[in-house]
Amino acid sequence: MRRQYCLILFAAIILSACSDDAVEEDAYDPAHDYFSFANTKQFTTEHVALDLVVDFEAEALRGSVTLNMRTLNQVATEIVLDTRDLTIHGVRVALANGDSLPADYRFGDRDDVRGTPLYVSLPDDARTADTFRLKLDYSTSPESTALQWLPPELTAGGKHPLMFSQSQSIHARSWIPLQDTPAVRVTYDARVKTPAELLAVMSADNDPLTPRGGEYRFEMPQPIPSYLIAIAVGNIFFAPLGEQTGVYAEPELLDSSVFEFADTQEMLEQAEKLFGPYEWGRYDLLVLPPSFPYGGMENPRLSFVTPSLLAGDRSLVSVIAHELAHSWSGNLVTNATWRDQWLNEGMTSYLESRLMEVIYDKGRVDEERVLSYRELLLDLETVPVEMQALAPRFDNGDPDEFQGTIHYSKGQLFLQYLENAFGRETFDRFLSSYFDEFGFQTIATERFLDYLDDKLLQQETSKVSRLQAEQWIYQPGLPEDAPLPTSSTLDATEALATDWANGKTELSDISTDGWSPQATVHFINSLPADLAGDRLQQLDEALGFSATQNAEIGRTWFIQVAERGHALAYEQMEAYLNRHGRGRLIYPVYLALATNGSDLERAREIFEQARAAYHPLTEAKISRALEESGR
Ligand code: BES
Ligand code: ZN
Repeated sequence: MRRQYCLILFAAIILSACSDDAVEEDAYDPAHDYFSFANTKQFTTEHVALDLVVDFEAEALRGSVTLNMRTLNQVATEIVLDTRDLTIHGVRVALANGDSLPADYRFGDRDDVRGTPLYVSLPDDARTADTFRLKLDYSTSPESTALQWLPPELTAGGKHPLMFSQSQSIHARSWIPLQDTPAVRVTYDARVKTPAELLAVMSADNDPLTPRGGEYRFEMPQPIPSYLIAIAVGNIFFAPLGEQTGVYAEPELLDSSVFEFADTQEMLEQAEKLFGPYEWGRYDLLVLPPSFPYGGMENPRLSFVTPSLLAGDRSLVSVIAHELAHSWSGNLVTNATWRDQWLNEGMTSYLESRLMEVIYDKGRVDEERVLSYRELLLDLETVPVEMQALAPRFDNGDPDEFQGTIHYSKGQLFLQYLENAFGRETFDRFLSSYFDEFGFQTIATERFLDYLDDKLLQQETSKVSRLQAEQWIYQPGLPEDAPLPTSSTLDATEALATDWANGKTELSDISTDGWSPQATVHFINSLPADLAGDRLQQLDEALGFSATQNAEIGRTWFIQVAERGHALAYEQMEAYLNRHGRGRLIYPVYLALATNGSDLERAREIFEQARAAYHPLTEAKISRALEESGR
């Protein structure tokens, strides 16, 4: 009896432990995309055909999209698509036999981050079809979060309007109703009508010789996730960089772009040697106006980039190496959901550094490694621990705001750690086989981990255990044996900054001639917190930081200026905040100004005056920060 009682008690404890678990871990499913409404287990999209008119006056795209759908689960009768601020004029379903039927549709509730689900009912005759086409007539709204419509005065030329898209992370739904999740890959084609004098380009087969005329056709024959569908229209022209590479820009920026990005063809060739074949045909760049919110965006075959890279000395082209490297990590092998973003960004940051080492010298790349490591250390101080894992639980919030440097720098360090442990040759072989194995697929972190375990860790078991790899991926902070980058040139500038601050070195003995911009950035960042204001002024007078034309030096300097309330440089800081629109360059300056204890009002005034030139996403982010600082 007693024994039986014990057994029952034991079973009860086990059962309750299990059900507790079930409650605690609830239904979080790392493979599920919490940022899309699409029912991708029931239906998937294989091809997207766009037919659009670009209407600058209405600041809208009008036309239709036809989605080639495949039914995965015959029981389902309703297709859920992602939308945001779209007007749907009608939906029809076309069957393989040519029949076309109108379909009922309705919008669900709007969510601030995710947008509005669109429910389309399959007509009875379509319910047994394996494949069908869904044609949606629609138009976008001027509020589309993906599209920026720039009046002529916000372009370099000042005579023609320009528009561009930024679909990552979840903005494709604000210009195309579709299954907006990286879990689904589609091929696409497009017909785009524009004002006759403007050129349209897309993340597709742009032909450098396309004549103008206002009607353009595109094809992207390789399957890509929706966040890589991209378009831009403006007074843009092409110039070749190499056989397979070139740059599009407004004519005013074309020559300086050709100079700045002259190494692109070489980068492409070296990248192929390192990572395997480039699968996409051409690789071109599009230089956008200053409001472009990012440094670069890896739209396939055509990376979009900020004009702030045009430093005149090719010092900021690691961004190009980065976007090019995404042609492997991200575009070829894609993160399954935004929770796996480190697979895109961390891997790409690592590849970027490898590529930069081949093209330039290791010293320069070590400098860049140290700078991004320092940014990581700063972030680790503020990012909540549960978000410090490379692949944390991520089911709400905004994917655009999801922990920058953790993905980038911690991800990069993890891969550097593996390289160090297994040796470059072995690790490179592993990487090429990884791109080969998962090319044109979308994978979650766990697929990567299993593959890593199987193909690398198990091959030489004494080097890195699965547990160690899991620590990088699932635990906060950095493991104790993380490989910390060092740079002798940066050590020297750091020592100089301290010596000058302590009065051991005179300004007349310091010259930034021969320093890389990275060294200057590090010098500025190494100034002690308690430096007196007039000392900052002496520095500026001697070294001319406020007048720098290098966007990264400006960023670093004006963050310091704002943090320290160094008002003598405010005029130039304000000019900087008006000249640039890339979020990385301006957001931290506003934040520093808003939180230095005395300049919140000033931050607001500058912002009010400058905001019209910013991208809606950048504008919203700064606006939120300024509001929050006021509380
Ligand atoms: N894909 C990113 C940009 C992005 C990330 C857009 C997340 C939206 C959401 C791009 O490849 C990138 O990483 N850009 C960096 C460049 C850099 C780290 C070299 C940027 O813009 O700062
Ligand atoms: Zn990236």
